[in-house]
Amino acid sequence: AKLVICDHPLIQHKLTFIRDVNTNTKEFRELVDEVATLMAYEITRDIPLESIPVETPVVKTEGKVISGRMLGLIPILRAGLGMLDGVLKLLPAAKVGHVGLFRDPDTMQPVEYYVKLPTDVQERELIVIDPMLATGGSAIAAIDVLKKRGCTQIKMMNLIAAPEGVKAVHDVHPDVDIYVAALDDHLNDHGYIVPGLGDAGDRLYG
Ligand code: PRP
Repeated sequence: AKLVICDHPLIQHKLTFIRDVNTNTKEFRELVDEVATLMAYEITRDIPLESIPVETPVVKTEGKVISGRMLGLIPILRAGLGMLDGVLKLLPAAKVGHVGLFRDPDTMQPVEYYVKLPTDVQERELIVIDPMLATGGSAIAAIDVLKKRGCTQIKMMNLIAAPEGVKAVHDVHPDVDIYVAALDDHLNDHGYIVPGLGDAGDRLYG
């Protein structure tokens, strides 16, 4: 399993203002959307291409296009929705499956409350989207849901992750590569990522 840190300067710059407690809701949403687009650029770096004929104004030649391989985006509600449109900007043909999970505040265990997936989800290459990978419980549960439906090609995209969460996901799902904008230091006693960005769902939606 692979952990990829998307450390492009544009991503790092925007992430600093996402972390900043003084960033207001409007700016926070815009920045999360922009970083999601930039991360989509990184996560699709190894996507297969195929050649097609193309006629330029000058000559007939060959061009490359993304092969008919089908993609699926799986935002984990709520906070994953904040990154969805940013990814769809680059991958407009992707289908979207929604997985609703919240962390029980006492046990920190993920509770499933909504699952709606495209009918052909198991044929698609999937990107699970969530701004935060903290204990990893939500990510593991979402990937469990997808694997139970027969999905085999799954990547994970998070703005920030705690080392504990990365390890937990890779222990249970070693086939899932994880793409993050930053790997943070640790989790605190409340299961919050430190330094982190607070609660992404609350900062996006209140
Ligand atoms: C947050 C976050 C992740 C999860 C990460 O969601 O968006 O989904 O916690 O924590 P974990 O790795 O320990 O599972 P939350 O449960 O607060 O729900 P929300 O997105 O609806 O705010």
